[in-house]
Amino acid sequence: MVERDHWWPVALADDVGAAPVPVTLLDEPLVLWRDGAGAVQAFADRCPHRGARLSLGAVVEGQLRCPYHGWRFDGDGRCRAIPALPGFAPPDGHAACRHAVAQAHGLLWVCLGTPVAPAPPSLPPLPPRRVVHGPFDVATSAPRAIENFLDTAHFAYVHEGWLGAPTHAEVPPYEVTLTADGRPVVPDYPAWQPRATARAQGGAWVRYRYEVLSPYAALLQKQPEGDAPADAYVMWACPTTPETCRVWFVQHTTDTTTPDAALREFQSAIFAQDRPILESQTPKRLPLFGGEAMCAADRLSAAYRRYLRAAGITFGVC
Ligand code: FES
Ligand code: CO
Repeated sequence: MVERDHWWPVALADDVGAAPVPVTLLDEPLVLWRDGAGAVQAFADRCPHRGARLSLGAVVEGQLRCPYHGWRFDGDGRCRAIPALPGFAPPDGHAACRHAVAQAHGLLWVCLGTPVAPAPPSLPPLPPRRVVHGPFDVATSAPRAIENFLDTAHFAYVHEGWLGAPTHAEVPPYEVTLTADGRPVVPDYPAWQPRATARAQGGAWVRYRYEVLSPYAALLQKQPEGDAPADAYVMWACPTTPETCRVWFVQHTTDTTTPDAALREFQSAIFAQDRPILESQTPKRLPLFGGEAMCAADRLSAAYRRYLRAAGITFGVC
């Protein structure tokens, strides 16, 4: 499965403190914890002794202690102590299963296989003020969630009075281009929005730019007319199971005055409008090989599906 060789976001870096944190990636339970040097480690959430969940244990003196018989593992995964046999030096075969971890964009990333890229996806220069929204656990596949983020034709209905209006339901014939490595981009999409941002005082035309960053990640940049502050949103989706995902929206904004709480309230309201529709879609896996009607307004969705097919993605699709 090619997805095992990609980096995926699994948690906010700030959310992993003194206690072990259970997460799920590609249907595999993992435990995140900080070792004695403060480095985050990702292990399979399964003790090599009798299969207990390591995340039910504790971090003791920089080592992860299993809740069942107290075996202790260091940051390299090596078993350092078996309390039932005080004088025994555990052999290499008693090690926990350890995965590669990276930190980027305020998130922790795990690769379960052999990384195809040395690091998580990079971002173009974005405004420095960063506000993280989420995580949101969503009962649909990661590609369904990303495709919704790339979809503009739903603004007039799902986000009526906020990001769209039935009087402006038409989708203009926008252009989709590809980056050198084949990722879809919409360089310029005009949208009329009754309430485009948390600080908006009324309707305005907003120029959108979309870029698919990786199979389950996308960037949206919003530039209102005039000199109003600009926003960018990165949607990072973690494929937890084939039919569920965990997503974060990381907002970068030139707005220096609106409080974080107001920005979060706005984004939560928008996602609360998307969620019931997203979770109602069947199949929950994104159909990559036909089976759903397409129209010209869906050309970014069609490009995204072609991109997933070319990347050999099999998780969360059908
Ligand atoms: Fe973990 Fe026995 S199951 S120490
Ligand atoms: Co929406």
